[in-house]
Amino acid sequence: MNEIATKQVEGLLEETDQIAALSNLSAWIYESYDCLNWAGFYLVKNNELVLGPFQGKVACTHIPFDRGVCGLTYRSQQPQRIRDVLQHKDHIACDANSRSELCVPIVVDEACVGMIDLDAPIEDRFTQQEEDDMVLIASLIANAWKQFNW
Ligand code: SME
Repeated sequence: MNEIATKQVEGLLEETDQIAALSNLSAWIYESYDCLNWAGFYLVKNNELVLGPFQGKVACTHIPFDRGVCGLTYRSQQPQRIRDVLQHKDHIACDANSRSELCVPIVVDEACVGMIDLDAPIEDRFTQQEEDDMVLIASLIANAWKQFNW
């Protein structure tokens, strides 16, 4: 991610309210990367993943830890870059148009507290560079999470 983009994300994360900050961040990601059909967050609440701020079509609101690409991201605490969601046995389709997905954990004090989730309507949409960008954004979110007691 270039310096200007990093500064923009850092600026959005100066907002202390979690919903306000993550809402703007989902809009920033959606506007900054081509050809996405969904960009947003799932957050850990009461032992499951709950839909957070996002841009895109209506999505599933609760995901158990043992389901979906998001659940796999939670369990592994590793980014999941899925080239073809139709070939992934445990993909949950929120939008039938989705063909590839990038899901990156947000880890605070070694615990996964949520994830950035991106969907695209074309196969093999996401690059290693974009995965690295989301890992950086997730670490900036983790810093804000600690600073503002989210
Ligand atoms: N595809 C995700 C579900 C969330 S939607 O993509 C917004 C999954 O398999 O966990």
